[in-house]
Amino acid sequence: MTPSLTDPVIAGVPASRISALAAAEAMTYTAARPLSQAASKKGGLHWLDGVPMHWMTDWPQPFPAHIASAQGAKITDVDGNTLDDFCLGDTGSMFGHSPEPLARAIQQQASQGLTYMLPTTAAQDVGVLLSERFGAFRWQVATTATDANRFALRVARAVTGRPKVLVFNGCYHGTVDDAMVALKDGMTVTRPGLMGQVTDLAATAHCCEFNDLDGVKAALETGEVAAILTEPVMTNSCMVLPEPGFHDGLRALADQYGALLIIDETHTISSGLGGYSAVNGLRPDIFVVGKCVAGGLPTAVWGLSAAVAERYVAANASRASGHSGMGTTLSANPLQFVCLRATLSEVMTPDNYAHMEAGAARLAAGLADAIAKHAAPWHVVRVGARVEFICHPVPLRNGTEAAQAHHPDLEAAVHAALLNRGCLIAPFHNMMLVSPVTTDAQIDRLIQAFDDTLALLF
Ligand SMILES: Cc1ncc(COP(=O)(O)O)c(C=O)c1O
Repeated sequence: MTPSLTDPVIAGVPASRISALAAAEAMTYTAARPLSQAASKKGGLHWLDGVPMHWMTDWPQPFPAHIASAQGAKITDVDGNTLDDFCLGDTGSMFGHSPEPLARAIQQQASQGLTYMLPTTAAQDVGVLLSERFGAFRWQVATTATDANRFALRVARAVTGRPKVLVFNGCYHGTVDDAMVALKDGMTVTRPGLMGQVTDLAATAHCCEFNDLDGVKAALETGEVAAILTEPVMTNSCMVLPEPGFHDGLRALADQYGALLIIDETHTISSGLGGYSAVNGLRPDIFVVGKCVAGGLPTAVWGLSAAVAERYVAANASRASGHSGMGTTLSANPLQFVCLRATLSEVMTPDNYAHMEAGAARLAAGLADAIAKHAAPWHVVRVGARVEFICHPVPLRNGTEAAQAHHPDLEAAVHAALLNRGCLIAPFHNMMLVSPVTTDAQIDRLIQAFDDTLALLF
């Protein structure tokens, strides 16, 4: 295709074709959703920017679908449109909507109190199950993965006595201030766009490129780094896989320079039983996982290795009295315990992971075939149950390459086309999840929808 100044080509597609597709899909969407549109108009005036949480405007539709119900891997809006759900609440519902053991557990607990600030016997069951599933850590419960990461960083700073956290360019660990930095011309800078930011985050964070062990080493040599905070795979940009030896290198460098290694498995829990760490033998000092760990009920857990727990206890015993800066009132409530127990024992099972893995492999192969058929300069990447098509010809090495491979207008048009063909995928880049209850028929429908969409673009 010859690029033109008036009609630039984006990832192989002329911009005019992208905007034509987006406009046509917006009309189709609107025509099928009069009740959602009316609901948006009615209630929208009372919410800031029209929605109860601003991410709801990140979907590429003219107004958000209002959901009537969701069950398994299907989601139905108030207009009666049922979609195959491959977004699954951006991982919160990775095991399907309202799995039966969760619904049962919630129902049983619902009439027995919802928050006490005291443990239950279910809590003790959960402690055992967490260690069986993820390794022998000393656990704490939080309500969001954002909080769990914040608390993990506080521990890391407390036990090392060092100020900085090392994160990777393009990472996301929730709305944790420390991780909101980027690399600009080789320097760590506060990310642009942060609301109400008054401090220079580079004072307490150091940003490196993923897969760059030399960069990590140089940062650790300063002696300022308390912890490396990383996902095993970068899933919050266009997906970036670790190169062979990267994780071994991180572990070795952390040990050599006395920094802690915090592994955030909030998304990579899709990798298989126990998350990426268990599947690939990683040895974090602090392990964090949230979102789907209690089947979608707001819950996260963070665990300290025995050695770090010992250091934490010593630091805690010798600190000045006062608030530690960790904990929130509704965390570790009885509903979380029964949901954690049900998820860990009945949902996060080898059989369910085997189903997710097989389905995701089928999806990845089907999408790759469609890309080849249309000669699109794109590729597919997969980590267990998590699949992504990337509008770039070759695998990505780091956050800078991932940012360059992200084409918001093109991706939004593709997402809109998939939705109108019955398939919902995550609004942030091109992420799809296969749940234990996703069927081959649903997967094949998504592959067909993708193929049809590529036929419109190429
Ligand atoms: C890797 C990772 N960690 C933490 C979080 C934060 O999760 P939450 O928004 O539930 O606090 C996210 C959210 O997308 C994430 O992807």
